Amino acid sequence: MKSEIRNPMSEAANDARATDLSVQIGSLRMQNPVTVASGTFGYGVEYAELLDLNQLGAVVVKGIRLTPVRGNPTPRTVEVASGLINAIGLQGPGVDGFIQKYWPFLKGLKVPTIINIWGTTVEEYAEVARRFDGLGGVGALELNVSCPNIKEGGAQFGTDARLLSQVVAACRKATRLPLITKMSPNVVSIAPYAKAAEDAGSDALAVTNSYPAMAIDIETRRPKLANVTGGLTGPCIKPIAIKLVWEAAKAVKIPIIGMGGIQNAADALEFIMAGATAVAVGTANFYEPQTALHVIEGIRDFMQRKDIRDVREIVGSVQLPK
Ligand SMILES: Cc1cc2nc3c(=O)[nH]c(=O)nc-3n(C[C@H](O)[C@H](O)[C@H](O)COP(=O)(O)O)c2cc1C
Repeated sequence: MKSEIRNPMSEAANDARATDLSVQIGSLRMQNPVTVASGTFGYGVEYAELLDLNQLGAVVVKGIRLTPVRGNPTPRTVEVASGLINAIGLQGPGVDGFIQKYWPFLKGLKVPTIINIWGTTVEEYAEVARRFDGLGGVGALELNVSCPNIKEGGAQFGTDARLLSQVVAACRKATRLPLITKMSPNVVSIAPYAKAAEDAGSDALAVTNSYPAMAIDIETRRPKLANVTGGLTGPCIKPIAIKLVWEAAKAVKIPIIGMGGIQNAADALEFIMAGATAVAVGTANFYEPQTALHVIEGIRDFMQRKDIRDVREIVGSVQLPK
């Protein structure tokens, strides 16, 4: 009888449906835990022809402040062993430019947009948060308090627990959107900063931003970046980022979005086992724009292989020695 013939393809499809990859970041629900890292994915539209954006957990855009920013002089990226140093300087169109130029495209996506924001004062952060609150349809705001490549703002807020609390609290007052605080790795211990962000009302943490770094051309004896120093990202930072996620996860109850050198599902699973609820693919987008989609598939395969129905079962599941 026809109905008794087993169809391995449809069984596989059923299995895939039974695997729950969805995660919750504050009030934001993501269909899977894989997103992209701010500044490595433009404003989404640049990647639209290279992959199906609606497959992602969320799209995260380049940092936006109130007014347009030109960024740093070139050269502002340099490749190093297993990594990239950049000093873009948070170039961007400002709130109005972003809304005019990029929001019509982003709001049409089926997946949420997370807007990375920054300012040079606490008030500016809050004002940008207020403006995006009023826009309607934004998935979440990511507070960049950790950019190493600008003179004012950025890392100064992420490496001072008092200022960090002030920024998060001011944004908390300005919006009901989920707030994700993007942490600086440039601290002796991340725990007090993670706790400060949580206590001030952050719904989640993004761990981590880039590591301050420098490269020199030995022939000219000049720094390879016009800005002299920049932020190191890519596979070379992964083990340090994993440790930071693990430490932050022990310090807070809010979810963590882990990032730093993710190239494949195994890398992402390491972050998840260390305590990340979701992950972001960054530098890898520059050489393989489909990386995030491969990561989603790979996580699903891992779950099916290990008979895990819900991705949340893996979060923080690292087995420590007794
Ligand atoms: C070219 C470039 C631009 C970046 N711009 C931003 C930014 O605007 N805001 C931000 O919070 N992080 C920014 N980042 C940091 C990334 O979002 C991410 O935290 C970091 O690259 C680590 O992930 P990865 O090693 O997978 O790239 C940028 C990184 C790169 C490489």
